[in-house]
Amino acid sequence: MAVITTVQDLKDIYIRRVPKMFYDYCESGSWTEQTFRDNVTDFADLRFRQKVAVDMSGRTTKTQMLGRDVAMPVALAPVGLTGMQSADGEIKAANAAADFGVPYCLSTMSICSIEDVAQNCDTPFWMQLYVLKDADFNRRLMERARAAGSDTLVITLDLQILGQRHKDLKNGLSAPPKLTVKTIANLATKWAWGAEMLGTKRRFFGNIVGHASGVSDASNLGSWTAEQFDPSLDWNAIEGLIAQWDGKVILKGILDVEDAKMAVKVGADAIIVSNHGGRQLDGALSSIRTLPSIVDAVGDKVEVWMDGGIRTGQDVLKAVALGAKGTMIGRAYIYGLGAQGQKGVTTALQTIHKEMDMTMALCGRRNMAEVARDILYIPADFEGVWAGS
Ligand code: GLV
Repeated sequence: MAVITTVQDLKDIYIRRVPKMFYDYCESGSWTEQTFRDNVTDFADLRFRQKVAVDMSGRTTKTQMLGRDVAMPVALAPVGLTGMQSADGEIKAANAAADFGVPYCLSTMSICSIEDVAQNCDTPFWMQLYVLKDADFNRRLMERARAAGSDTLVITLDLQILGQRHKDLKNGLSAPPKLTVKTIANLATKWAWGAEMLGTKRRFFGNIVGHASGVSDASNLGSWTAEQFDPSLDWNAIEGLIAQWDGKVILKGILDVEDAKMAVKVGADAIIVSNHGGRQLDGALSSIRTLPSIVDAVGDKVEVWMDGGIRTGQDVLKAVALGAKGTMIGRAYIYGLGAQGQKGVTTALQTIHKEMDMTMALCGRRNMAEVARDILYIPADFEGVWAGS
């Protein structure tokens, strides 16, 4: 059995185990994938300031995200088709998160339904909303989430149309996979994945099938979004949705200071600085580069979190140092899930936690409240010098 010391180790196993179609779905950015790459590589431009002779006993990474105690400032991001990476994937991820003490957010485009995850995981999860044209669907989804015990709604703002990921089109991405000569050839090499998948009934978009109508191909993410998602979503509509939800609201997909101010104005409890993992507007700035200006603009009015590019606990610590009160990881836990199911998600979380804790100690800090920008060397031009901005 391979010794796993990094999230990358999990990814190496994941690529061997999961069908190419779903690996590619996870591991893609849109168009040239520049933003997808920048999200990761921009973290490396930040360096740590080593401090010695500081008592590092009694350390903790515990903190709060929106008033909720968390083992570390990391939540599992909503990821579409998680149940295709590993059978019953959303249930496995939700349980791993609950056991570790971090929040899990279920995607509208999940395979396991809201009710199914709630029945199979004792800890309430957060619910992510894609705003569909069908206002009744949106309202019912919120009601279903509420009934399942969810008190926090994450509204994604940066995917009303689906960014083009070339590999998904070339692979004919669908859930479940359509059986063509090409997919059968690849599935035949993924027998462990296939055996588990045959053992579950959860193979369709569980929140949608039977709950929304008028879609030509119920297995295809591209046709769902094109036919169902509401391209007219604007701040008025967002305000209306927030008014319908009697819990906390997180607005996800903010990359611009003026948008961050609008999010505060419409009543967000937290915002997530995000470019959807580089899957939407290719050429946008990385999340970590954008974070400081948004923290400076609205960090005293709302919790600012970030996602995009986090693969290590050092990345989480850098985000916290730049002012993030929380982070979300997507791919970093999907690698673990695809590699080893629930155990792999736990390993990803443990790995990130260990990296974060040790780095914090070597920077001479003992808890999240002590982590600030001064643990970093930040290049003078980190945020970029852009004409006219
Ligand atoms: C959906 O959220 C996607 O990025 O594919």
